Amino acid sequence: MDTSIERLLNELESFGLENDINVKEDSPKMKNITKDTGQFLSLLIKSSKVKNVLEIGTSNGYSTIWIAKNFINSDAHVTTVEIDDRKIVMARANFRRANLEKYVTSHHEDAGAFLKRQANETFDFIFLDSDRSHYIDWWEDLNRVLQRNSLMIVDNANSHREEVADFIKLIQSSESHDSLIVSVGKGVFIIHKN
Ligand SMILES: C[S@@+](CC[C@H](N)C(=O)[O-])C[C@H]1O[C@@H](n2cnc3c(N)ncnc32)[C@H](O)[C@@H]1O
Repeated sequence: MDTSIERLLNELESFGLENDINVKEDSPKMKNITKDTGQFLSLLIKSSKVKNVLEIGTSNGYSTIWIAKNFINSDAHVTTVEIDDRKIVMARANFRRANLEKYVTSHHEDAGAFLKRQANETFDFIFLDSDRSHYIDWWEDLNRVLQRNSLMIVDNANSHREEVADFIKLIQSSESHDSLIVSVGKGVFIIHKN
């Protein structure tokens, strides 16, 4: 990995952990993925011919950087959506610091509204790490914008099992999708759209 990106990821990892333990009234929790989830996403993306990633839930850009670092000198791209005013500013500064701005488009808005505007089968990989109470409502559009034979990865499948239980049941009942929970980081739910 590019050493300056590796240094930035290490810095953001420490910042996120420290920030979320000592969170102050005026600073939001980062709720970043764990380092091994970043490595896992990176391996999946690196080993496939993914060209157009959608991430829902940018926070300060930690997971986006794990994704976008694989796109250097390629025409692949990640689009990321974040609703929080302060976090999107932090994320954009971090994309600049990582020198990855060219590979990232960030949208400051509600993911539900964003999804409604996207054309069918636009993305060939989706990373969902946002407000879990919306996942069932968003599912129709998430599935619509995902290409066939592509993956969607959902974080917090173990850490917040109850909150995602109905969503997981919904996908497991679909004949058009294969899925599996993998115990990496906070638990990732992997969905394959057949
Ligand atoms: C778990 S954090 C994302 C962490 C990030 N993926 C990372 O690992 O660095 C979830 C994020 O989703 C954002 N979020 C919550 N509801 C949202 C919505 N309706 N639309 C877009 N973003 C939303 C939150 O502000 C928060 O930053």
